[in-house]
Order: sequence, then C-alpha cells, then structure tokens
Amino acid sequence: MPTRPYVIDEMISAKAIAARIEDLCREIQGEFKDTDKLVVVGLLRGSFVFIADLVRELDLPIEVDFLEASSYGDGMESTREVRILKDLRGAIEGRDVLVVEDIVDTGHTLNHVTHLLDSRLPARLKSIALLDKPSRREVDFKADWTGFEIPDEFVVGYGIDFAQRNRNLPFIGKVRFTQD
Ligand code: PRP
Repeated sequence: MPTRPYVIDEMISAKAIAARIEDLCREIQGEFKDTDKLVVVGLLRGSFVFIADLVRELDLPIEVDFLEASSYGDGMESTREVRILKDLRGAIEGRDVLVVEDIVDTGHTLNHVTHLLDSRLPARLKSIALLDKPSRREVDFKADWTGFEIPDEFVVGYGIDFAQRNRNLPFIGKVRFTQD
C-alpha cells in the first residue's frame, strides 16, 4: 500500500493516447505489411491496456501472447534484476514479433526481454513502448516505436500502477504527494 497520501494530475489524456496509437499503428502496418502473422507480445502486467487498444487498431493478421517480467516488486525503485515470471506460450522462431511495453525507464526490462526473445531466432523482432523516460536510462536501449517521451515524473494509469493501484485509470496521470 502507498504510505503517503497523493493525488493524480492528468498528464496525457485518453484522447491523446488514442490519437497517438492510430499514428503508431500506421507505421507498424508499414513495417509488417508483408507478414503472414505477427506475434504481438504484451509484457505483463503494465502493458495490458496498451496492447488491448493497440491490437484493435492494427489492421494486420496477428496472434497475441504474453510474457511477465518484473523488476520493481511493489516499490518505486527498480531492483535492476529482471525476472521472467511467465514465459510465452508459443514458439517464435522464424516469426515476426512485436513486443509491447507500457514504459521504458532504466531500460533493463525491455533490454533483457528483447535479448531473450532474440536468442529464439525470430524472423523480425521489434518493440514498442507507450512511454519513454530517456533521462532515467541505465542501459543503451531504445524501443523501435515510442508513444510519448516524458520527463522523470512518477506516472500511473493506463495499465501502470503505484503499488498495484491506479492501473485502471483511462489516462496517464502524474502522482503528486500531498504530504511530506
Ligand atoms: C514496470 C513497467 C516496465 C518496467 C520498466 O514493470 O511495466 O515493464 O517496469 O522499467 P525499466 O525500464 O526500469 O526496466 P514492473 O516490474 O513494475 O511490473 P508490472 O508491469 O507488473 O507493473
């Protein structure tokens, strides 16, 4: 449970997210226009809202799979140790794969996951993150597509949690603590 009271200020509206997803999907469709079936891999848990909106906007033949990686536990700081808690159900060798992430912060999670999936010899492996905090990066990693670059603010909503709360907000909000 969060220990200090806080409020959430809207940072990126649901409408702005939807508009950005439309643009991103046009680019993704261009990249994968010749695919027979794209495997869209959501990284649980944070990407569950983004992947749901993304696949409904994508006009491509797709399969959906999930992988659960965790590096934060219930705290606010990354432990830098990425654990695979749930692996893919399907094989990706020779397949076109798009990894979907909610946020790239230090970069450890997506860096680790893309290396892991790359070792399984997909035909093409691309990644997309809704949010990117480049100022927090600890490893040299950039997703192939990014929805929004944001400053180093503590964000919640649209799948992203604070101690498992607030994932169900339809927008991206900024946490503001109301007491020291
Ligand atoms: C969060 C977020 C990303 C990752 C980004 O996941 O969803 O997966 O951290 O941080 P990084 O770039 O510093 O690695 P978390 O481990 O909190 O799990 P969750 O998706 O279940 O919330």
